Amino acid sequence: MPRWEVAFWRDRYAVLTLDLQIPRHIGIIMDGNGRWARQQRRPASYGHRAGVRAIKRVLDACETLGVKMLSIYAFSTENWSRPRAEVRALMRLFHETMQREIDEMHRRGVRIVVSGRRDELSPRMRERIEEAMTRTAANKNGVLNVCLNYGGRAEIVDAVKRLVADGVEVGQVDEASIASRLYNPDLPDPDLIIRTAGERRVSNFLLWQSAYSEMLVTETLWPDFDMDDLKTALADYASRVRRFGGRPEDEEAAQAAVR
Ligand code: IPE
Ligand code: IPE
Ligand code: MG
Repeated sequence: MPRWEVAFWRDRYAVLTLDLQIPRHIGIIMDGNGRWARQQRRPASYGHRAGVRAIKRVLDACETLGVKMLSIYAFSTENWSRPRAEVRALMRLFHETMQREIDEMHRRGVRIVVSGRRDELSPRMRERIEEAMTRTAANKNGVLNVCLNYGGRAEIVDAVKRLVADGVEVGQVDEASIASRLYNPDLPDPDLIIRTAGERRVSNFLLWQSAYSEMLVTETLWPDFDMDDLKTALADYASRVRRFGGRPEDEEAAQAAVR
C-alpha cells in the first residue's frame, strides 16, 4: 500500500474511533446544487431539494461524530441576483423545510438560530424563523446556525450601525465591542470551514468569524456530500497545526525542556 494511503486509512480509522480533535464548530458553504442538477438535466431547484437532503445527512453525521455546532450558508445577500424563479423556489423550499423539520430538530435538542438580514425576508418566512428560534431557544445538544440572506459584509455593517446607535465612544471601539454586536455573538468562531464543489473562495461567508478558521475545499457537489466526506474532512482537520499567529511548536519544546 502506498504511504499516503496508509496515512489516509490511519486518519480514517482515528476518526472512526473518535481518537482525534473534533472541531467544535463547522461552517459549510454548500455549493454545487446547480451543477448537480445540470448533470441530470434538471432545473436548479431540483438540486436545491437534493441539497436539503444532504443537510439532514450531515446533521446526523455531526451528531454521530460529536460536532456540536454547524453553520450552513443557505442564501447569500448576493443570491437575490439569481433568476426570479430560482429565488422564489429557494424561499419556498426554506419555508417548507423549516416547517417540516422543526419538530425533529426540537426532539433532538438542537437550538436553531438564523443569521442574516431578516427584515428583507417575507413576513411568513420571518414568522417561521421566529417560531423555530423561540421554540428551540433552550435546547442544549447542539446549534444549527442557518445563514439566510446572510453576507459577512452586511453583518459587519449592521454591527457598526448598532455600535453607533448605542453611542459607543471612539476610544471604546475595539474587537470585542464589534464582535458582541454580530448576529450571534454567543457562537464561538468556526474551527473549520468546508466549501463543496471546488470553488476556492469565501463568497462573503462569516468574514469576521473565519479569521483563523481552517479552510477545506472538496470537489464533491453539495447534494452528494455524506458521512464519508465529513469523516475525510475531520481527518484532514485533525492533521493541521493551528498557530493563531504564534509559534506553538516552540512553546511545546520549552515545556518539554522544563519537564
Ligand atoms: C449553492 O448551490 C446553493 C445556493 C447558493 C443557494 P449553487 O446553486 O450555487 O450551485 P452551482 O454553483 O450553480 O453549481
Ligand atoms: C455561496 O455560493 C453562497 C451559498 C452557498 C449560499 P455561490 O454559488 O452563491 O457563490 P459564488 O457566486 O460562486 O461565489
Ligand atoms: Mg454556486
